[in-house]
Amino acid sequence: MAAGKSTRMKSAKAKVLHRICGRPMLAYVLDLVKELKAQKTIAVLGYGHKEVRGVLPPGVKVVIQKRLLGTADAVRQALPSLKGFRGTVLVLYGDTPLLRLATVKKLLKHHEANNLAATLLTAHLEKPESYGRILRDAYSGIRGIVEAKDADDYQKQIKEINTGIICFDRERLAEVIAKVKADNRKKEYYLTDTISLLYKRGYLVNCVKLEDFNEALGINSRLDLAQAIALAQQRINEEFMKQGVTLVDPRSTFISFGVTIGEDSIIYPFTVIESNVTISKRCSVGPFARLRQGTFLQDDCQVGNFIEIVRSKLSFKTRAKHFGYLGDASIGRQVNIGAGTVTANYDGSKKNVTKIGDKAFIGSDSVLVAPVTIGRGATTGAGSVVTRNTKVADNAVVVGVPAKILLKIKAKIKQR
Ligand code: UD1
Ligand code: CA
Repeated sequence: MAAGKSTRMKSAKAKVLHRICGRPMLAYVLDLVKELKAQKTIAVLGYGHKEVRGVLPPGVKVVIQKRLLGTADAVRQALPSLKGFRGTVLVLYGDTPLLRLATVKKLLKHHEANNLAATLLTAHLEKPESYGRILRDAYSGIRGIVEAKDADDYQKQIKEINTGIICFDRERLAEVIAKVKADNRKKEYYLTDTISLLYKRGYLVNCVKLEDFNEALGINSRLDLAQAIALAQQRINEEFMKQGVTLVDPRSTFISFGVTIGEDSIIYPFTVIESNVTISKRCSVGPFARLRQGTFLQDDCQVGNFIEIVRSKLSFKTRAKHFGYLGDASIGRQVNIGAGTVTANYDGSKKNVTKIGDKAFIGSDSVLVAPVTIGRGATTGAGSVVTRNTKVADNAVVVGVPAKILLKIKAKIKQR
């Protein structure tokens, strides 16, 4: 379910498209769905559905909820697409991206093994705040859920909450969903009301309790979003450390989803690594580096402080240790990129490519105005500006503004 507008986010963008570690929060829920190998997946979209549709994988059936009348209405809209289906319907919320596969599998297993009408994923919270509270009868069976806004003072004290993740038997759900009324503070049709309806009919309802509440964090505000980003970041960082990457200070290391880092690489503090970046083995990155999409570092590269790299390849043992910008550059092996080097890749209308050959030496403060080629073993002097369309020959030395050939040094003398 991803139709909600999210008033509390105060955003023109659909809530489920807000990003967590480089991808929309909905993408995490969709990953889960994929891994569950559901027979059928239905996405209930509404607010911003044209944009939201863009993140759905093929094969997902889209149902548009025209008016956002509540979570029960959303499910009601989806049910006709499940006509004739017998079995379990799992309801997932697009705004609950940290849920783990193992937890959902546990929920489904419990539900199916006990032949229940509905199974809730619940959690215990010291500060249950805006979550729906679980109501239990005298025999401590679940008899319903009350939304925080509708709860009385006594019910507000209840610390057992509804995470929103529920599995239903399709037929039992269909039987009660039509009976849900919008008789509450928000005047919405609440999916949570199906629980008391099932209970009153004598159907079996039970729950699976969540150990780590963080998994069920529902994102309703920018504060929740920041919390989710921090948790997702922690998961990503821990995974890299398990794979043999040193993060000197995980708390100040910001790595997006979709990054590869090889063994024995070291990431220094205050480094930002965005999606679609590959760092091979034994590289060193940062402190204060920013690697953007399409950065590829081969083994043993060193990228130091205050460097931004985008859509660029640095081959084996190349170093760019001090501030600079490398964009759309293809850089050979064992190249030294001096402090302050800038590839001027953008000419105002398009991005142009810089090519640097193996063992080249780019002097401090060089500006390489792309498209430009620096040959194998060539040198640019400090402060030189290599103008566009220049091809510096192998082993040549260029200096000045604009850079001119100083002398040709034979390869055997250079030997860098
Ligand atoms: C819901 C639960 C609450 C639970 C909490 C957990 C209800 C009535 N309440 O509250 O018990 O503790 O989640 O996070 O279900 N949506 C639609 N169409 C709508 C309304 C909502 O698709 O008409 C979608 C939203 O996009 C969202 C999800 O349903 O992904 C949950 O809606 P939201 O309004 O965030 O519910 P909560 O108030 O958080
Ligand atoms: Ca929510």
